[in-house]
Amino acid sequence: ARLLGGDGPLKGRHVLVTSGPTHEPIDPVRYIANRSSGKQGHAIAAAAAQAGARVTLVSGPVNLPDPFGVEVCRVESAREMLAAVEAALPADVAIFAAAVADWRAAREASEKMKKDGGALPTLALTENPDILATIAQRVEGRPGLVIGFAAETQNVVAYAQAKRARKGCDWIVANDVSAQSGIPGGVMGGDSNEVRLITEAGVEAWPPASKSEVAARLIARIIAATGPEET
Ligand code: CTP
Ligand code: CA
Repeated sequence: ARLLGGDGPLKGRHVLVTSGPTHEPIDPVRYIANRSSGKQGHAIAAAAAQAGARVTLVSGPVNLPDPFGVEVCRVESAREMLAAVEAALPADVAIFAAAVADWRAAREASEKMKKDGGALPTLALTENPDILATIAQRVEGRPGLVIGFAAETQNVVAYAQAKRARKGCDWIVANDVSAQSGIPGGVMGGDSNEVRLITEAGVEAWPPASKSEVAARLIARIIAATGPEET
């Protein structure tokens, strides 16, 4: 019953969140991955449930417990993540915090690739579907508020503003994932984050905070933007 949502300002709303990395298979024992821990996305799902929403969390492979009161759908690849997101619609709010692999192997070998003493293998890549852009550009059944993330190592605001326009989402949560970000130990895999919220109205710089504090602030901002609960 808790999975249907609880009391709170987001009661009656369905919030969809993506989190974690994706794993893109090369052969039965190898994959392409990235350093995402899923901590920020999972914290957002937990905060939305805390605020009374019904929450679906579509997560790539992570070492985190399922957040309380959240329906978790586990996937591995970007294509599986897109299918799970589409199956979870309709949603009132969709937040795309996953670090989706941009590329996958063009061909997945059905057997383990072997050293055969000859030429080194080459890995041909192909582009993955853009889950955020696919959902943000839906004509029918687009969530009322679509929020993306932007992981940048330079020109954070300019790149994130361009991403917001290109993908057609409403807000972008931009973070600097470079080693020079000022977050000790770095953002990816760490427990804290320093973000800028980019909306149609402009850029808000949020102070450095724990990933749960950033999540709570984002949910408060969503509540303020989406108005009082539906009756
Ligand atoms: N995203 C997605 N599907 C993809 C790639 C990205 O849904 N195949 C989403 C991420 O979850 C994030 C946003 O798009 O919310 C931006 O991701 P990011 O990697 O910063 O942007 P890209 O468009 O992939 O551009 P690049 O990596 O080249 O900066
Ligand atoms: Ca990317």
